[in-house]
Amino acid sequence: MMYEILKMEVADGVAVVTISRPQALNALNTRFFQEMDALLGEIGGRDEINVVVLTGEGKAFVAGADIAEMVNMTPDEGQAFSILGQKIFRKMEMLDKPVIAAINGFALGGGQELALACDIRIASAKAKFGQPEVNLGLIPGYAATQRLPRLIGLGNALYLLMTAEMIGPEEALRMGLVQKVVEPDQLLPTVITIAKTIASKGPKAVKLIKHVARVGSLMDFESGCALESKKFGSLFGNEGAEGMKAFLEKRPPKW
Ligand code: CAA
Repeated sequence: MMYEILKMEVADGVAVVTISRPQALNALNTRFFQEMDALLGEIGGRDEINVVVLTGEGKAFVAGADIAEMVNMTPDEGQAFSILGQKIFRKMEMLDKPVIAAINGFALGGGQELALACDIRIASAKAKFGQPEVNLGLIPGYAATQRLPRLIGLGNALYLLMTAEMIGPEEALRMGLVQKVVEPDQLLPTVITIAKTIASKGPKAVKLIKHVARVGSLMDFESGCALESKKFGSLFGNEGAEGMKAFLEKRPPKW
């Protein structure tokens, strides 16, 4: 596929994906979802990519779903646009490689929902967050009603969803919406360092952490623990054996 909106640069096991439609503040349209679908497939198949970083070009991470594309949709078309976005975000969420959001600016509506579907969120001091859908007479369509309460608790989630208040990065940090806030010029270096740190760990273990936490968090506690034990066991005799042996032999592991 020829990419018009997404750019990707791969170095040292880290793929930096930049959403690049700054003239519309990187608003999410059908074309974006088609490209993201294709790119996730490509990333999944490229063994040299261990970790993905997702960021936006210009003053926005993503300012939401594309209002110009949505304005004349029928109810059926609106539902289909929601299902499309949910499907692609879920594909990213279940990608067997960690995805880190480097939130450089506005992360509003569908943009905040995109960040919610990433595994780790790091914000620039210039970032702004919010779910402004109610300002438009809408509700979120890319699963913020589901992911936001699970991530920051029902009280914080309903506050943001009902008031449409735009919050800064420190407030987002306090709510647990992001993991770190850094100066704008430090955003990509910090996120790439985090990505490389993760890429240096046991690769099977990192994949399984994501799988067990993601799948297990939607299960009851006992089933989640059973899944954990099964995957824990699967690392013995291979990657885990090497990691533990390296520790005992006081040398770096060879993955
Ligand atoms: N969709 C389409 N175009 C958008 C957009 C969006 N979500 N957000 C911004 N743009 C466009 C603007 O229309 C404008 O285009 P023109 O230059 O052609 O007029 C351009 O991007 C620049 O935007 P502004 O001039 O508005 O920039 P600003 O700095 O004055 O304001 C902003 C920035 C506060 C983020 C403002 O653009 C804004 O409020 N955007 C909309 C945010 C929003 O409501 N997002 C939720 C969308 S609904 C949704 O996401 C539903 C869902 O869950 C699926």
